[in-house]
Amino acid sequence: MSESVHPVPEDFNARIGARELDELNDLANADPDRFWLDQARRLTWNKFPTKAGDWSFKEDDFHIQWFADGELNLSVNCLDRHLAEHGDRTALIFEADEPGEGHRWTYRQLYEETCRFANLLKSRGVAKGDRVMIYMPMIPEAAAAMLACARIGAIHSVVFGGFSPDSLAGRIADCDACAVITADEGVRGGKKIPLKRNVDTALETRDVPTVIVVARTGAEVAMKDGRDIRYADVREGLSTECNPEIMRAEDPLFILYTSGSTGKPKGVVHTTGGYATWAATTFDWIFDYRLDDIFWCTADIGWITGHSYVVYGPLANRATSVMFDGVPNYPDFGRFWETVDRLGVTIFYTAPTAIRALMREGDEPVKRHSRKSIRLLGTVGEPINPEAWEWYWRVVGDGRCPVVDTWWQTETGGILISPFPGATEMKPGSATKPLPGIHPLLVDAAHRVLEGPASGNLCLSGSWPGQMRTVWNDHFRFFETYFKTYSGLYFTGDGCRRDEDGYYWITGRVDDVINVSGHRIGTAEVESSLVSHPKVAEAAVVGFPHDIKGQAIYAYVTLNAGEEGGDELRKELVQEVRHDIGALAAPEKIHFTLALPKTRSGKIMRRILRKIAEGATDGFGDTSTLADPSVVEALLAGRQ
Ligand code: PRX
Repeated sequence: MSESVHPVPEDFNARIGARELDELNDLANADPDRFWLDQARRLTWNKFPTKAGDWSFKEDDFHIQWFADGELNLSVNCLDRHLAEHGDRTALIFEADEPGEGHRWTYRQLYEETCRFANLLKSRGVAKGDRVMIYMPMIPEAAAAMLACARIGAIHSVVFGGFSPDSLAGRIADCDACAVITADEGVRGGKKIPLKRNVDTALETRDVPTVIVVARTGAEVAMKDGRDIRYADVREGLSTECNPEIMRAEDPLFILYTSGSTGKPKGVVHTTGGYATWAATTFDWIFDYRLDDIFWCTADIGWITGHSYVVYGPLANRATSVMFDGVPNYPDFGRFWETVDRLGVTIFYTAPTAIRALMREGDEPVKRHSRKSIRLLGTVGEPINPEAWEWYWRVVGDGRCPVVDTWWQTETGGILISPFPGATEMKPGSATKPLPGIHPLLVDAAHRVLEGPASGNLCLSGSWPGQMRTVWNDHFRFFETYFKTYSGLYFTGDGCRRDEDGYYWITGRVDDVINVSGHRIGTAEVESSLVSHPKVAEAAVVGFPHDIKGQAIYAYVTLNAGEEGGDELRKELVQEVRHDIGALAAPEKIHFTLALPKTRSGKIMRRILRKIAEGATDGFGDTSTLADPSVVEALLAGRQ
């Protein structure tokens, strides 16, 4: 692992330098209540809270609340309060799949469109607390739809457009949604995605009263009478004013489904005041935002990164945010940098998987474009290997832009561990240090808290405003998943090393979650999809290292008696997973085997399966507890 150190580039004049960061840390430690209330002051409240955090991670008194007696509306914070002086400022730059085919919305336009959507939802009976699904491309209307829900107090749940109709249906059922907002089609990398058709398929199992369809391509789509509304047909008649619902800080803002180690995806619930404070604060701190910046986070709004750093964080800070509806390699591998030059992007935030894919194409597609507008680079979603970090720094940033490697999770609402670009020396591959007020701990298998340089499981010993509050409809699962393993601590699911300088190096998930191209996939979900195929008896899924994706999916499959494995069946199984979950969960390798390595009590030894998938030929540890140790030899012989 590289241990080179990069100082803050000399001419990077950040608002928060080393001294200011020390002050923030000092205040956060000395008077947390005041510190957090200070951060909450970034927002405009109808009633400012009197108290910051009130929480306990202990089983007998388990609760998490932030700013509980405060009242506010997040759409007001992202829109109304900017209008008087900045109504004509660009809020969103829509960058379509085809370069240059986008357009811009000012804050006033976004406000008006948000109010229109809000009024449309209200006219369909959607009210405070109701759940609304958003299944849309990266178009400004998607942001307006999210903000419209926030405006009327409805809880939005955005589902990434790459998820299958089955996945969408499962989420609609889980949160009992009463409306779906979608588009006719999406377009990515020149390919059409039949969003409305997917919604129709999803709703075959469970219908909803209202489907709103925004035109993206203008394609003909089926419309169901009484349920489906073409937004374009009603838009003119909708008022551009809509009174915001005043929300309590702890009222839910959104549900975002994410994969865990067991069962179906969990509905991660974020609430209004704490989440908004955290998104706004971290955006300001880590991206050193200035009014003339053009901020581009390449994430989709279907993921938490899109929620916090395409929509809520930037808009609460009155920023100009790019919504990118394309892919890094279309029309060619220079797409990011061509777009950066054309739009004048100053802050660029993307995922290591994209950086690795671009790095493989060499420097030319980067160097072909000037990139001189960029002043700050960021990464998120998975560990970045030092080699990719150095390339990003040297080739994309010309060695003059700080790189912020930001560690966080759907559950954390916003960034928790990251350099401050103007204050923290960078070590390629390390997310560096916790933000002020954040208290990470490393814990070993015997539940001992480790001091100094050490490797262990990453936990947090206290709450922060952006922490998730519950799993939708399953508060018990919330506690069991995150707070039970290590009593009194929030367990992240990540492994981590802390070095002699107190820098954190995230090593990846230690649970049964696979991080494919920065997307979280639960092994249990893929396994349950595989075994739903009539020929499959059993399946065990693990991750293995992949040059571009970080990790890819390796599936071990046993077949029912008399069935034969082969390429045809492999294709069918991949198809099954694409159908049940989505293309992003498709196994890279499928290994047919007569048996899985199991203990005498029948537990699959995943440790061995992981090793074999990684390419190991020995070092399987103690295999004496296996019911049939010869299974290992057979698996090695059949490795894919
Ligand atoms: O394993 C960590 C990895 O992504 C997981 C969270 O995934 P998700 O909830 O989908 O959110 C992704 C975007 C915030 C974490 O448990 N991860 C995220 N950022 C980093 C990371 N691993 C290493 N370094 C990072 N910067």
